[in-house]
Amino acid sequence: MADDNTRISETEIAVHWHEEEYYSPPESFIQQANFRDADALRKFELDNFPDYFAEYGHLLQWDRPWDQVFDGSNPPFWKWFVGGKLNASVNCIDRHLAKNRNKTAFYFIPERPEEPKQVVTYQDLFVRVNEFAALLRDLGVKQGDRVTIHLPMVVELPVAMLACARLGAIHSVVFGGFSGQACADRIVDSESDVLITMDGYYRGGKWLSHKDKADIAVDKAKEAGHIVKHVLVFERHPGTYTSNAPLVAGRDILVNDVIQQYRGRRVEPVSMRAEDPLFLMYTSGSTGKPKGVQHSTGGYLSYATATSKNILDIQPEDVYWCMADIGWITGHSYIVYGPLSLGASSVIYEGVPSYPDANRPFSIAEELGVNIFHTSPTAIRSLRMAQNIAPQNYQYHFKLMVTVGEPIEPDVWRWYYHVIGRDEAVIVDTWWQTETGGFLCSTVPALDKMKPGSAGPGIPGIHPVIYDDEGHEIAAGSGRGGNICIRNPWHGALQTIWKDPNRFVSTYYGKYCKNPESKDWHDWPYMAGDGAMLASDGYFRILGRIDDVINVAGHRLGTKEIESAVLKLDDVAEAAVIAAHDDMKGTVPELYVSLQPGVVPSDELSARIVAAIVTEIGPIARPRKVWIVPDLPKTRSGKIMRRILASISNNKEIGDVTTLANPEVVDTIHQMVRP
Ligand code: PRX
Repeated sequence: MADDNTRISETEIAVHWHEEEYYSPPESFIQQANFRDADALRKFELDNFPDYFAEYGHLLQWDRPWDQVFDGSNPPFWKWFVGGKLNASVNCIDRHLAKNRNKTAFYFIPERPEEPKQVVTYQDLFVRVNEFAALLRDLGVKQGDRVTIHLPMVVELPVAMLACARLGAIHSVVFGGFSGQACADRIVDSESDVLITMDGYYRGGKWLSHKDKADIAVDKAKEAGHIVKHVLVFERHPGTYTSNAPLVAGRDILVNDVIQQYRGRRVEPVSMRAEDPLFLMYTSGSTGKPKGVQHSTGGYLSYATATSKNILDIQPEDVYWCMADIGWITGHSYIVYGPLSLGASSVIYEGVPSYPDANRPFSIAEELGVNIFHTSPTAIRSLRMAQNIAPQNYQYHFKLMVTVGEPIEPDVWRWYYHVIGRDEAVIVDTWWQTETGGFLCSTVPALDKMKPGSAGPGIPGIHPVIYDDEGHEIAAGSGRGGNICIRNPWHGALQTIWKDPNRFVSTYYGKYCKNPESKDWHDWPYMAGDGAMLASDGYFRILGRIDDVINVAGHRLGTKEIESAVLKLDDVAEAAVIAAHDDMKGTVPELYVSLQPGVVPSDELSARIVAAIVTEIGPIARPRKVWIVPDLPKTRSGKIMRRILASISNNKEIGDVTTLANPEVVDTIHQMVRP
């Protein structure tokens, strides 16, 4: 992996920013925290692996207890809570009904301030999930089937997920902002017979028609040889279908029309083995094809629950708001599964946080009494840059705030702490990934001091390590960066990549497996794909991806996916995507292309290139700039040197280019980009 295109060389440059600046949690927080016993941390030492994870398993309600916490006999296909049986929807809903049926599960806040909020109690959720599960069952959905859900941020999204879980069907949620083509790719790979969508939704003050994407997805899936049998269409305003896309007879079903027949219906939850998959979530990797990350029922759910309890410190009386989209892993683990499993009250906000103005988050926090606030560095940066924000005019108190998804600059961290958190909220900087199911590195909020810009140590039960490219451990405090890996298995980790176990093994275990024949988990560290540094205090600072993945506003995009979208245009000869620094979004894609002989650069062509990306993936992958250049810098073996292009875009030292096959082109490109 460490060829000239990786950013490992950049990560090796030590960045010492305010290395020793610490902040302590306030005494009032410590007194009330779920995890406040420092002695309890000792239980989680590596010598006690895997037994310490039993405690996490006990947070769930099991139909049948497990016989064995961990089965490592077939590395790296670990099995957890073997023999145990449970249902995820029962754990997220039914088990709370006896005591908390009237407690709010979700507050749904529509983007338009004039539209009233919806309060969904655990009893309401129970009713809606059962009715929808009954409908799915009548359409033939059964245990093990895959169901693709392409919905915006509405309550119908967790309802659909939990209805699948009740039936033992595997949901595959596609982020609402992805295009119809991207949805089709995921439908085909997962072989879903049912697609769940919505007519449209509000975002950024506009009505966005969404059902059109379902039509594209079904058509494109058909072209690829897969037939979607049913498209279930929710209406944003039930009873009023609003979309340019007409309903297709025999295929599309308006949920609101048929659900009347299911009023009061109950569905017996299917008792699943702990190891049965709960869901797939497609994410970007080093190839042009997103991979279906497969998460288990028992292992994943107990990990999301335990981390929500220990790190987010969610307690029964808290009101919790995570601003992520449920279409990404953060929303799965920390809006749906973790908080519901703990019986919490949380917020689903439909739209953009700056609508109608940048004070919206504070007005929502004030109205609902939100006291745990979960967001990303990009959102924090955009609040910081916004005109007229006045958190001081709103009455709210955050006991804990979360940052996730990208490295946060210490400066931005401090602003978050002082201005949004009012010097009273504890911040957890949580580092993790789609594949890991839940947090890996973070401070334990009542026990560890905070250090701006550093995620913290491994959370209880997680033992990270940094390796250099040769597999040697890099010592704490050495100031050198390397690949962050996890020494031990944990039960939130992906089970495999859907239909591609070889890719699973090679991507996460290929580089650092000490002995492929070994049956000992010690020989199989998990490689995350991030560069990181370990300070002498045991805190990890995450430096960014070392592979062909870029992180735009906390959203993960594959450079190869974007490049393959562009290469579908006949006029384009070669394409290279790089991560360019952006003050707001951390990084954004910039695209360099060379054209086929005889093709003349034009604005029209650049626009077509951008349109191809938006159609194939979605607006989040839109490049900030398309540079049409005479040729791309290449090694003598023909490898495109993206690192050089990134240095030009980011105005950094380019280094020696004399060994390139075409060194002269570097100058030409430099002249174009930085005249
Ligand atoms: O590079 C790391 C970055 O986001 C990547 C994972 O992206 P995704 O699978 O979409 O999941 C995002 C939400 C967990 C990681 O490989 N990342 C995530 N959290 C942090 C982070 N980088 C720095 N600090 C974080 N707290």
